[in-house]
Amino acid sequence: MNSKRTIIHNVYVVNEGRSFHGYVEIEGEFIRSVGDGDPEELLKSGAELIDGRGRLLLPGVIDTHVHFRDPGLTRKADMETESRAAVAGGVTSFVDMPNTKPPTVTVSALEDKLKRASEVSLANYGFFIGATADNLEELKNVDYSRCAGVKLFMGSSTGGMLVDSLEVMERIMAEVPALMAVHAEDETLLNANRKAVVERYGEELEMEFHPVIRNHRVCFTASQKAVATARRMNHRLHLLHVSTADELALLEPGTPEGKLVTAETCPQYLAFSDEQYGMLGSRIKCNPAIKRPADREALREGVRNGLIDTIATDHAPHLAEEKLGTALTAVSGMPLIQFSLTLMLQMAEEGVFTVAEVVRKMCHNPAVIYGIDRRGFIRPGYYADLVLVDNDCDPYTITDAHVLSRCGWTPLNGLTVNNKVDMTIVSGEVAWRFGVLFSGVRGKELRFNV
Ligand code: DOR
Ligand code: ZN
Repeated sequence: MNSKRTIIHNVYVVNEGRSFHGYVEIEGEFIRSVGDGDPEELLKSGAELIDGRGRLLLPGVIDTHVHFRDPGLTRKADMETESRAAVAGGVTSFVDMPNTKPPTVTVSALEDKLKRASEVSLANYGFFIGATADNLEELKNVDYSRCAGVKLFMGSSTGGMLVDSLEVMERIMAEVPALMAVHAEDETLLNANRKAVVERYGEELEMEFHPVIRNHRVCFTASQKAVATARRMNHRLHLLHVSTADELALLEPGTPEGKLVTAETCPQYLAFSDEQYGMLGSRIKCNPAIKRPADREALREGVRNGLIDTIATDHAPHLAEEKLGTALTAVSGMPLIQFSLTLMLQMAEEGVFTVAEVVRKMCHNPAVIYGIDRRGFIRPGYYADLVLVDNDCDPYTITDAHVLSRCGWTPLNGLTVNNKVDMTIVSGEVAWRFGVLFSGVRGKELRFNV
């Protein structure tokens, strides 16, 4: 048992709505104490000292929506490369989606992923099991203390795991006592829109047509059905990547505790709008599509008032050559995990959110919603998952050259920011410090309180 003690002092701790000058004491893999001011006695107690030099100390980010492509799509990414990008960006835990190859739709595929992650992941890890039209028995056999929940794609996206029958959704809700997370886009409407657009404009479609095909109605219709079904079945539902103002009408404000339906959005829907498709092209092509400036503004307000509970990246790396093509042929998805915290803190700097709100949506609420054991907060007895951020560094420009993800590009190429992740600690171990990766660090399996 590692009982090494480290004290990170002279930091601004942002945690549970408070921001204070203080310190955190780590013992082994856990937080031992947290306090205000300078801990004079502790500093003399022989522990290793890290002077945070007035930087921010936050709980490590828990990114509950990533596509690490492992197994089977590892030309794009794998758990090792993407977990490196994660810790470089202050993400200490991730939850990965089932649209891998083979898809994670059986207990044994889930176990294979857990094993692979234990061997190579620098960050803590957890996985969804995917719903199909006929894997109910597998879903029933999962130990949900070792699985984040059931992911269901109502609209087709990368990986072809479509379940567009409400009866299947209902059956799963009736028989599987686990959180259901849905990708809500209506397949019938989406296909009709695509057909209409192609008939009118042909197949060589500019990227601006992506949100015309995957429009507001596509999202609202599916989200409305999912929410109505969950309420009827009294089943816990988490709406993934909410992208429209319209869908906010389906949600409740406030904190996630006690809500039957909770919701996620992603930094790309808060930072970009469809006006940027011309400039950024397929780099910001994702499903659901990025919508209008008015949606972006409404989503920002939704984050502030609690209609939106979590911010996760939907980190979905593809190779640059796969992103070539038209609105019909370029693949959907973008890498974001390495810069999601930086991007959100930049938005805080610009007054869109407070740092405390960013911490709530990226660290605390993911832990609450998924019932993640002893993570997501800076509390004695919790795992020491921490991130030290220089929130006022010299401005620098993010470029593709900084990207640790295998795909080697970022939609933020060219963005100038003035914050950076100085240090990331995963269960008490330094995994990233001043640009250096400690590649021997291994994350732990997340445990979910069911
Ligand atoms: O844009 C997306 N990319 N949306 C999804 O639903 C899947 C993801 C992927 O796996 O590429
Ligand atoms: Zn996704």
